[in-house]
Amino acid sequence: MKLLHIDTSIQATGSISREMSAATAERLKREIPGLDVQYRDLAVHPLPHLTARVFAALAQDMDTGDFSDAERNDAVESKKVLEDFMAADIVVLGVPLYNYSVPSTLRAWIDRIVVFGKTFRYGGPNQPIGLAAGKRVIVALARGGYYAEGSAAAQHEHAETYLRSVFSLVGINDVEFIIAEGVAVGPEFRETALRGALDTIQTLAA
Ligand SMILES: Cc1cc2nc3c(=O)[nH]c(=O)nc-3n(C[C@H](O)[C@H](O)[C@H](O)COP(=O)(O)O)c2cc1C
Repeated sequence: MKLLHIDTSIQATGSISREMSAATAERLKREIPGLDVQYRDLAVHPLPHLTARVFAALAQDMDTGDFSDAERNDAVESKKVLEDFMAADIVVLGVPLYNYSVPSTLRAWIDRIVVFGKTFRYGGPNQPIGLAAGKRVIVALARGGYYAEGSAAAQHEHAETYLRSVFSLVGINDVEFIIAEGVAVGPEFRETALRGALDTIQTLAA
């Protein structure tokens, strides 16, 4: 069984989402003997923004198109990113809330895995059919403030809502979220939120 572990926080140390995603991967490794873990740090190894030319290169045979080496390399990496996603049984994402949304590096990764004809198609107008169903996706999400459902700030939260939408497009409708929030309010709030999230992670089943 394969687990794809991705981190996105710009903080190399002291990152809550990294600590949560690492604990999640460790927990699942203990629960699932022989679990094969692949790791990518998008803050260290980001993908470029998708361009029209790379989009075109991906849609056709790159040997025949008039593409630069850089464009070819980009398309090759993009295909590999998609293959790695498709090969994964479990995807663990470490995600900080940045400016009410996900880090731009994660957004760039999503442009490489949400691909018409590969991870979704249309059954009719406004009837997307996801082609990546069956994967387990766990998001370890760190938020500076409080955005729980019903709170005044909930309308500004576009990380959890966005990720639920985007994974549902590819057929994954039951994304699991482990959330540490209010972490920027003060050190004691940070500690309480992190401890709660880590406790939840220790209850994750295979
Ligand atoms: C660039 C940036 C933007 C942020 N934007 C928000 C935000 O919109 N709302 C919020 O509640 N917290 C925001 N925060 C706080 C982070 O969500 C919080 O510190 C979180 O712990 C970051 O994840 P990390 O600890 O894994 O790095 C922001 C932090 C940074 C660095």
